[in-house]
Amino acid sequence: METLHLLFATSEVFPLVKTGGLADVSGALPAALARLGVEATLLLPGYAAALDGAGPLQQIARLDLPQHGEVRLLQGRMPDGLPLILIEHADYYQRAGNPYLGPDGHDWPDNALRFGLLGQMAAWLAGDHSPLPRRPDVLHCNDWQTALAPAYLHFYDRTPAATVMTIHNLAYQGVFPPTVLGPLNLPQESFHLEGLEFHGMLSFLKAGLVYGDRITTVSPNYAREIQQEPLGFGLQGLLHHRRDVLSGILNGIDTEEWNPAQDPRLWAAYDADDLSGKAQNKAVLQQAMGLAAEPGTPLLAVVSRIAAQKGLDVVADALPRLIDLGFQFVLLGSGERALEARFRSLAETYRGRAAAHIGYDETLSHRIEAGADVFLMPSRFEPCGLNQMYSQRYGTLPVVAPTGGLLDTVTDATAARLADGSATGFVLERLDAAHLVATLGRVGELYRPQENWRRMQRTAMTRDFGWAARAQEYLELYRSLLARRA
Ligand code: ADP
Ligand code: GLC
Repeated sequence: METLHLLFATSEVFPLVKTGGLADVSGALPAALARLGVEATLLLPGYAAALDGAGPLQQIARLDLPQHGEVRLLQGRMPDGLPLILIEHADYYQRAGNPYLGPDGHDWPDNALRFGLLGQMAAWLAGDHSPLPRRPDVLHCNDWQTALAPAYLHFYDRTPAATVMTIHNLAYQGVFPPTVLGPLNLPQESFHLEGLEFHGMLSFLKAGLVYGDRITTVSPNYAREIQQEPLGFGLQGLLHHRRDVLSGILNGIDTEEWNPAQDPRLWAAYDADDLSGKAQNKAVLQQAMGLAAEPGTPLLAVVSRIAAQKGLDVVADALPRLIDLGFQFVLLGSGERALEARFRSLAETYRGRAAAHIGYDETLSHRIEAGADVFLMPSRFEPCGLNQMYSQRYGTLPVVAPTGGLLDTVTDATAARLADGSATGFVLERLDAAHLVATLGRVGELYRPQENWRRMQRTAMTRDFGWAARAQEYLELYRSLLARRA
């Protein structure tokens, strides 16, 4: 079969720039596709960290755009060797801090232009006048930051690449006042109900959902959930209308990066056959976080963005009762200031039993996955979620809300699933503090007689969460798209 050329457009990629799971997926999926023979290239804004981390850079184009000024496209490489194109525009992208938010915690005021340019460049590279030696066969867009690209291709190109629009999180849509239409060089006729208009505003994500050839979500369950209220976030009608081209492909995890047997960030290595290293990680973690040195106490953990989506207010509500039940608790996270403060003060109150590290810390996130016994993910919605998979691989059994990809990736410890050995975690019946406490009561009972727990750990740790099979599904989707076109 002929080599397929893919351009994968994204606003973050691990290990160069990461705020959440999108970076992990962008760091792993194109590489997994390359292993299947796809000629994959990444496209990313030229953040300072990306320009620094992408090795020697070669200019492939220089443009002077009336709306944006001077822009250069630079070709470099990811640390793993995958080709990467960076959009150099110092004024837009070379800023200290978060790619989306200013130091005040609010969106950068010029995000429409910053990510409009990303979409425009993706479309140029994948369109009739691509400056690349060969126009990509498929343009794969991810989330609202890249979602204008299919609209540009629709309005300005005759024989562009086929497009796939992946929704990692429908809660973020990139909605701006219609005055940005001109500066973004979008035609006035694109602004209507069946186009980019969303309640009188311009929606980036809607552009991708209307004009993308295929729409995917990061789990099959989420693909169903978003066709209805409330998880459709106003786009359920459109998504249901396009259901024939909408499907879910479960995320994988990078099993090299997340492997307790050879994770350089851990204090001790371990695997499914010998968990003694896990106990060592727990002991050092307890000490490092100021928790009492109690090997037999079940340690609960959270590593997360602190946002309404993640349901961590429910954990805060339940925490006093969980401490009473005999658990220890550790949280690593950052986000909403009020909830950050609440966890800090809970850690003060329950010193030695609960700890909170407010901030972003890649190393600590691995150490917590390794040292904890139970991982909490009480999300209100979760397109896929990665930490429940990292947790399983690290033998840290997840407790999850019954939503999205969490349901697709965690096997609840019901009597039947315990008996047949397939259980890997715990699924809440409903998301509220009472159900969280009740479920953790069940967790506590299973934790004490160690045989059942060990068995669940072994099943969880040996489950295949790798990217190979999922990348194959994307490849088949790309091929089916191209076949339909031909
Ligand atoms: P989302 O993308 O919605 O935040 P995911 O579960 O898909 O959720 O991915 C979150 C990723 O971000 C995981 O790799 C997780 O370990 C990481 N992460 C989140 N918060 C932190 C933090 N405070 N420190 C380190 N890593 C974090
Ligand atoms: C989003 C979702 C998360 C998903 C990640 C990667 O940030 O919130 O559930 O795992 O994207 O696809």
